Amino acid sequence: MITVRWLGHSSFHIKTPEASLLIDPFFSGNPLAPKDAMDIRADYILVSHGHGDHVGNALDLAKRDNAILISNYEIAGWLEAKGLKTHGMQPGGGHAFPFGRCKLTLAFHGSALPDGSNGGNPAGFLLTFNNRKTFYDAADTGLFGDMRLIGDEGIDLAAIPIGDNYTMGPKDALRAVEFLRPKQVIPIHYNTFPIIEQDAHEWARNVRSQTTTQAVVLEPGAVLEL
Ligand code: NI
Ligand code: MN
Repeated sequence: MITVRWLGHSSFHIKTPEASLLIDPFFSGNPLAPKDAMDIRADYILVSHGHGDHVGNALDLAKRDNAILISNYEIAGWLEAKGLKTHGMQPGGGHAFPFGRCKLTLAFHGSALPDGSNGGNPAGFLLTFNNRKTFYDAADTGLFGDMRLIGDEGIDLAAIPIGDNYTMGPKDALRAVEFLRPKQVIPIHYNTFPIIEQDAHEWARNVRSQTTTQAVVLEPGAVLEL
């Protein structure tokens, strides 16, 4: 069994029989992060792009846990220069890890690192676990038509941003669900800060009435099983 725990904003803890994964672990300065977030041990830490609300605590946690950081080639190089273990990839490329296959997907966004270094191209993640279940984390992105191609791969669970301003807003996120056709969808990247406040329940009602996808609004710290 795979458990997917949302830790607020774009942060996830995924537990598979083989490994413990953190995605975009932004806990310090994140008012939505559960109190125990910093206690979670990780074997792998996935970083979608260079912005501070995604790199977050990745360096400290990777150092503490001797975890492998998975990100694009530029961010991986930046982290490796700080003495961390990394696995660099690029959008479109996938790799078989012990927990399953991780593919970096296209994302329309920026990726400058906190110190101004070049953070390469932003990405989302398509994870295919060893039980064949798939999780697509769109991370920070605007709507793009190639989400149809990602949907063609068959998605069990999708996480997509609805906060607007920096990413898709609720209207485009509804179109994203139509393109992706996941069995289940959860909204992310909203309500962390006033500028990205959204009514997630209203959005989920619209998804349920206009698509065949099951929309689930999670409280930070809540868990889904795959
Ligand atoms: Ni961002
Ligand atoms: Mn962000």
